[in-house]
Amino acid sequence: MSEQLKDRFQIIGGSHLTGEVSISGAKNSILKLMAVSLMAAGKYRLGNVPAIADVTMMGELLESLGCKVIHDESKSELLIEVPEQPGFKADYQFVRKLRASINVLGPLVAKLGRAEVALPGGDAIGSRGLDFHTRGLKELGAVTQNEHGYIVATTPKGLTGAKVELEFPSVGATENILTAAVLAKGTTVLENAAREPDLVDIGNFLNAMGAKIQGLGTPTLVIDGVSKLNPVDYVAIPDRIVTGTWAFAAAITQGDITIKNANASHLELPLEKLTSAGAVVTTTANGLRVKMSRRPSAIDISTLPYPGFPTDLQPFAITLNAIADGDALVTENVFEGRFMFVNELMRLGANIRVDGHHASIIGIPKLSSAPVAASDIRAGAGLVLAGLVAEGTTFVEGAFHVDRGYPKFAEQLRALGADVTRVN
Ligand code: UD1
Repeated sequence: MSEQLKDRFQIIGGSHLTGEVSISGAKNSILKLMAVSLMAAGKYRLGNVPAIADVTMMGELLESLGCKVIHDESKSELLIEVPEQPGFKADYQFVRKLRASINVLGPLVAKLGRAEVALPGGDAIGSRGLDFHTRGLKELGAVTQNEHGYIVATTPKGLTGAKVELEFPSVGATENILTAAVLAKGTTVLENAAREPDLVDIGNFLNAMGAKIQGLGTPTLVIDGVSKLNPVDYVAIPDRIVTGTWAFAAAITQGDITIKNANASHLELPLEKLTSAGAVVTTTANGLRVKMSRRPSAIDISTLPYPGFPTDLQPFAITLNAIADGDALVTENVFEGRFMFVNELMRLGANIRVDGHHASIIGIPKLSSAPVAASDIRAGAGLVLAGLVAEGTTFVEGAFHVDRGYPKFAEQLRALGADVTRVN
């Protein structure tokens, strides 16, 4: 049985991660680029594509809509061929496994005037509403309703540009409204839009296809509708969350990791926090190096939409604080369920008290091994890092969660000197 099919990580604690890792394309960009490709028939070549399970799942969803999808892992490339009339129904069997599949809603309704998208599943990190998505689409003229577990969106009078203001800068809602506005008649002004680098990447991809979007990376997007888009070749930006994971891994294990093919400017706040924790962070020509020579100092963290501290890095911040010198307060402002993994970390001996969306952590010098379970991608990776600073042998169940976002995680950890294997 191949190692990748075994669903538990076995971690023998004690190693200081040292060496080099290379970052591939951002999951949260690639998955959306795949969805956006539905907006123009023809052939696409996407580069810097990570070998992760979520890309495979999104590929299966596109195939179910009539696309041809080939993932050439040796070249990190994805070849997509989109038919003139893709299907309009994103079935539950695909969508339930992958939250990002909701991103076909905007592209399909804009291109076809009809989309039926099953309500998604995805990570167990709290309830994830879709009200901002549907409200924005309605303001552009779509009619949406929930029918038997599906969002059904139609455009009886076409889509027309409008002023839309998001209540919260939701990444997914910004993407669905943006894609719909790109093919709407007239100008859309989208206020309080998400500013995440992944969102900017998607906007740049759309502009390369012929869209007219201004203001990417700011809270106000101005979109002049166009009647047609064209397929293009495109290389996605590096994954800032995977980059941040390795940066925290170096700090947590008192290691020294050079992270290549990364963009440190997408991680300003997390890197500042790591510096306050005592790490030496140096940016290099194509990435960064994070070196930690002592026990980290505790750091207070408050998650917020970009450029705030990313919620996806919060489990690593809690793990670092669990073994840090001092006390810290971590506040989760984006996903209320994201503290689920804290109970698992406490099974490893961490001293944490959760009160609503605050976690108070009193650092201890070392964790102690135990069997624990991952509830989502980042929690899984965080528990593996916790296992590295636990005395004894830790087992983390649910490796499949980690496979959704990290290419060959165990192999990369071993290359950095960790004793991590996958077992049944
Ligand atoms: C994306 C990322 C995820 C990241 C998150 C925040 C993908 C595939 N996932 O998720 O990794 O953690 O951004 O950076 O790109 N909300 C509503 N109503 C809505 C939409 C959102 O209440 O209609 C709430 C959510 O429940 C959540 C918050 O808004 O509390 C943020 O969600 P959002 O930014 O939409 O996250 P996703 O796009 O789902």
